[in-house]
Amino acid sequence: MDEKAFRQFFKEKSVFKSASSLDMSYVPDKLYCREEAIKNLVFNFRRILEEDFSSINVLILGKGGVGKTCTARYFGRNFRTIALEKDVSVFIEYYNCINFRSKSKIIRELLAKYTHGSGRGFSDDEALKLILKQLIREKGYMLLIIDEVHLLRSDEILAFLDIAETYGHQNAKLSIILISRNRDWMTVETERILSRLNEKIKLKPYNYEESKQILEYRSELAFKEYVIDDDILNMVSQIVADHENMRHGIEILRKSGLYTDRENLDSISADIIRAASNDVYPTFRGEIVDQLNDQELLALFGIARSLINKDEPFTLVDDAFEEYQIISETYSVEPHVKMSFRKYIRTLNQLKIIASKTVRIEEAERGRHLEITLLDIPALKLEEFLIEIFNKKFS
Ligand SMILES: Nc1ncnc2c1ncn2[C@@H]1O[C@H](COP(=O)(O)OP(=O)(O)OP(=O)(O)O)[C@@H](O)[C@H]1O
Ligand SMILES: [Mg+2]
Repeated sequence: MDEKAFRQFFKEKSVFKSASSLDMSYVPDKLYCREEAIKNLVFNFRRILEEDFSSINVLILGKGGVGKTCTARYFGRNFRTIALEKDVSVFIEYYNCINFRSKSKIIRELLAKYTHGSGRGFSDDEALKLILKQLIREKGYMLLIIDEVHLLRSDEILAFLDIAETYGHQNAKLSIILISRNRDWMTVETERILSRLNEKIKLKPYNYEESKQILEYRSELAFKEYVIDDDILNMVSQIVADHENMRHGIEILRKSGLYTDRENLDSISADIIRAASNDVYPTFRGEIVDQLNDQELLALFGIARSLINKDEPFTLVDDAFEEYQIISETYSVEPHVKMSFRKYIRTLNQLKIIASKTVRIEEAERGRHLEITLLDIPALKLEEFLIEIFNKKFS
């Protein structure tokens, strides 16, 4: 291909008005169907604009794809604007524990941001004190949003919720929103954590009408006029309502748009939606896999390969380890020892990318072994996804 041909691709027409508005991290200007939740958040947090010494802890709960992240970020953004009008500067800090897997990591990051230091050499406690001092100096207030909070340990969550108690209400110009899926939350909840929460907000999945309203708005943002018609939107709304997952709908819109562009078509048809829908695994979260380190990715690749080879629903650690070693060599990466490999398996398990369980068997040497299965996506699809990532990383 020469440059001219390459350039030509950029000139080809597109159904998108704004493809990026369908990105996972995009927070739309309007939030439909979450009035109750937003009202609840406003009523809880508005007093921090009026009273000097208040610190509020709220938890947002709900299944995957019900808009927890989107609602919290929308609230944060608008709360900040309203606060500014009242001459209060609220700093919204959003951390996803997929990327920051411990309390220390989050605090370190905050310290670096607020005091411009590296944060090294400080204990969590010292670091927090510095951050809180800085907030007072700047006459600011921090709203800390911690997403996927179940990835922290219970005592770490408690420490966050206890900041006002520990450092004194007059010193802690900070409030917290925690976010978690229902089931995940159950694994970390304790009596003491519960007693520190001012409110638990539960989000229900969107029904058909709500899904339709949201999808109509999102496709208006994303696509040019006449690209997607009402019947097609009804179809996607039904899929979203059936799966109780809005992410599924957004992903279908995104994939359908890309396909339509690739095929040089003008509008999205029912067939395109069907194909896109089959290609979307709503509970599989590519963004998590994208964040894994090289060794964890290679371990996951090993698991996928050995599942494909075996053609059974589960594989064993030893088999996956063998594949992992082969793949590492293919990508010229020095494979780690089995003990490390087991550690990666534990991480993948904790991130809910795989499930693993120890099974007792009579014939086995030591009487038990570890079975591994994939959650949310077929092994072949995962392999495709991983190859894409590896091509980016190692080419
Ligand atoms: N009320 C809404 N209006 C517009 N878009 C929405 C709304 N609710 C959800 N979405 C969109 O649906 C997708 C999924 O929402 P979100 O990521 O907030 O779900 P979640 O509850 O955090 O799911 P998970 O537990 O999997 O993280 C996002 O692309 C989000 O922008
Ligand atoms: Mg989320």
